[in-house]
Amino acid sequence: MLNVGVVGAGTMGSAHAHAYARLPNVRLVGIADIDLEKAKRLADATGCTAVPRAEDLINRPDIDVIDICLPTHLHRYYVEMAAAAKKQIFCEKPLARTLADGRAILDAVEKAGVKLGVGHVVRFFPEYAKAREIVRSGQLGEIGVIRTSRGGGGFPTAWQDWYANYAWSGGLALDLMIHDFDWLRWTFGPVERVFAKSTFRRDFNREEYVLATVRLKSGAIAHMEGTWLQAGGFATSFEIAGSQGMLSYDSRKVQPLVTITPPTPGTAGVAVPESPGESPYLKEIRAFIDALDRGEPVPVDGKEGYESLKIALAVLESIETGRPVRVEGELG
Ligand SMILES: NC(=O)c1ccc[n+]([C@@H]2O[C@H](COP(=O)([O-])OP(=O)(O)OC[C@H]3O[C@@H](n4cnc5c(N)ncnc54)[C@H](O)[C@@H]3O)[C@@H](O)[C@H]2O)c1
Repeated sequence: MLNVGVVGAGTMGSAHAHAYARLPNVRLVGIADIDLEKAKRLADATGCTAVPRAEDLINRPDIDVIDICLPTHLHRYYVEMAAAAKKQIFCEKPLARTLADGRAILDAVEKAGVKLGVGHVVRFFPEYAKAREIVRSGQLGEIGVIRTSRGGGGFPTAWQDWYANYAWSGGLALDLMIHDFDWLRWTFGPVERVFAKSTFRRDFNREEYVLATVRLKSGAIAHMEGTWLQAGGFATSFEIAGSQGMLSYDSRKVQPLVTITPPTPGTAGVAVPESPGESPYLKEIRAFIDALDRGEPVPVDGKEGYESLKIALAVLESIETGRPVRVEGELG
């Protein structure tokens, strides 16, 4: 039985806390949020206690696992604190706001000898996992072109409007498109270089649209688009063209996605996509906890989170400079 504390009672803190509350091998001990009322509402709904300061959970000796569901720019500070307290850690994606912060996180968990899982939940969406399986089976032959699209139903509402603060969130490419960058790398291998354009700074940032062209080491090209504002609501799609066949998926055509709002009453938040069947967020949390329980490597570890962060930050650099950006080689 692992004792867990969740830091952040917003959209993702709520999704994670409800997932922990359903697992048989976990005891959800507490929720920390600087907005104590919000923490209390979530704690009441999930049967644990609420505290206002993350430190009060992180330094509790009876807690084994700390789950960080804070705005992106705060990940490094609290992951470092949790690592210093020798906790096992789950951190929402993106791993960090900058590469230096990402590197510091990897160093902190390595030094502490603790495990770190990163919330790249798209790996737990059945359509995306199945597509990877098909690609890797060789059924489609040599992959030439990949297209992905991910669109939000509207600009996310959150604590201090932090998604609209580029220095905190990194905007659309770092926050939303990183889901597809992670899936791309996981499915098709390392990325060599990127070239991207965004409407950000030409238009109001809440309606940001990004198009990224990504060249993989394999030679394949990916055309990846993201938007905060998809007509008709949240939707994702992909198309994979190989020498032996083609595979495509469109959430609008195949099966409707169910969008959920945070289960904590009275809490503003970003709607998170769901997939028919068991929640991918529950699957993700269960896979992390079961790996800890069995003493196995966790499914999406800090290094994987770091590699996906590198791609997203290269996209931001390309948007800033108007130039193609090379993604440095992967960590050994
Ligand atoms: N995996 C996904 O599908 C997905 C979806 C949405 C968000 N995210 C990621 O999850 C993370 C959190 O996003 P969110 O939408 O839940 O944000 P949110 O704004 O809904 O929640 C953040 C919470 O943190 C609290 N907080 C702020 N500073 C704090 C501090 N110092 N100590 C304690 N509490 C503090 C706020 O009061 C707020 O309740 C981000 O990194 C985001 O990118 C992932």
